[in-house]
Amino acid sequence: MSYWQTFVPINSGRKVAALREKKESQLASLASNPFIERVSPMDSKSAPSSAETTSTRLSSAVKVQPSNSQVRASRDGKLLSFEESLLQGASRLAAIARGEPFESEIHPQVLAEPAVLEIDHFSLWYGKKQTLFDISMNIPKGKVTAIIGPSGCGKSTLIRCVNRMNDLIDDVRTEGDIRLDGVSVFDPTVDVTQIRKRAGMVFQKPNPFPMSIFENVVYPLRIQGIRNRQYLQEQCERCLRAAALWDEVKDHLNQNALQLSGGQQQRLCIARALAGNPEVLLLDEPCSALDPIATNKIEDLIRELAGEYTVVIVTHNMQQAARVSDYTALLYLGRLIEYGPTPDIFSAPRLPETEAYVTGRFG
Ligand SMILES: Nc1ncnc2c1ncn2[C@@H]1O[C@H](COP(=O)(O)OP(=O)(O)OP(=O)(O)O)[C@@H](O)[C@H]1O
Ligand SMILES: [Mg+2]
Repeated sequence: MSYWQTFVPINSGRKVAALREKKESQLASLASNPFIERVSPMDSKSAPSSAETTSTRLSSAVKVQPSNSQVRASRDGKLLSFEESLLQGASRLAAIARGEPFESEIHPQVLAEPAVLEIDHFSLWYGKKQTLFDISMNIPKGKVTAIIGPSGCGKSTLIRCVNRMNDLIDDVRTEGDIRLDGVSVFDPTVDVTQIRKRAGMVFQKPNPFPMSIFENVVYPLRIQGIRNRQYLQEQCERCLRAAALWDEVKDHLNQNALQLSGGQQQRLCIARALAGNPEVLLLDEPCSALDPIATNKIEDLIRELAGEYTVVIVTHNMQQAARVSDYTALLYLGRLIEYGPTPDIFSAPRLPETEAYVTGRFG
């Protein structure tokens, strides 16, 4: 049975041939599209014609298609075969790359959640180069939200804006707003140090200060001028316990933090962020430098923090996003593509371009 017959089982004979001709010419014209660019080495070896190459690529993509039925509704409500929706997704991504306007697909469940953070028509330019394009998304309170997307799509830029880390970069211009508990983080009257405490950030590479474990954890309290030793000790223990590090370090809190392992340093940085009692914890690829055991510990920790804290995690690891988050947002070329409950994004996304990304077919 040919690819086209497996793809459109209700058609046969001449109908299939006519459909094949039409689609192959469409597919050939899309051969340069990033949506269908990523092929396995096996696919790329067998390729007599460019149209067939493309259809082989799509064929392999369709065969690993995990969940959706072959017919789905397009944005304008028309019923499309999966192949047609894939083509539509491909042309939408090409349109985004050309700079055409794009409307994000936001699932109603996200909008129904109370938001701690509102990103409102937010755009950002580094010099003349626009990096974020009119992003609107609410971050639900007490939940874990994962931000995924290809390298360079603006994930770090977006979360750095939440606590004004981009203030440290010259020549950055923004439009739109980001509100933490209803108050703009860009309001000239807000104290940036307070914003950074309320939206604590942990980076890809652990960055403990060259001081003791104890002093690292209580740093946010020290800069508030808190000196009460007993209170500092209580908070140090609370945060190290919350960061699942207490048992490993409780007997040597005066040891230099730089002597800890990478995974321990990352949990120490999370403990330090927690000491500031943040409303939102921003984690930018917190596990990318860690081994699987340390990664597991951080993932367990993220799940435990949910509820009491709101967590936003940027990750390249699809399994990690699926394991730890309640909601997932996909960014592409600085646009918010789709944002919804994590199970839906991974097993029943509304857009074929999301499906292509989460199943590793582009990015
Ligand atoms: N300080 C900066 N000055 C100028 N351009 C920057 C700066 N930081 C990031 N960019 C550009 O902004 C775009 C988005 O970068 P960003 O680091 O936000 O992407 P990302 O999605 O986090 O990527 P990755 O997954 O690789 O970490 C990239 O094109 C990058 O080159
Ligand atoms: Mg990044």
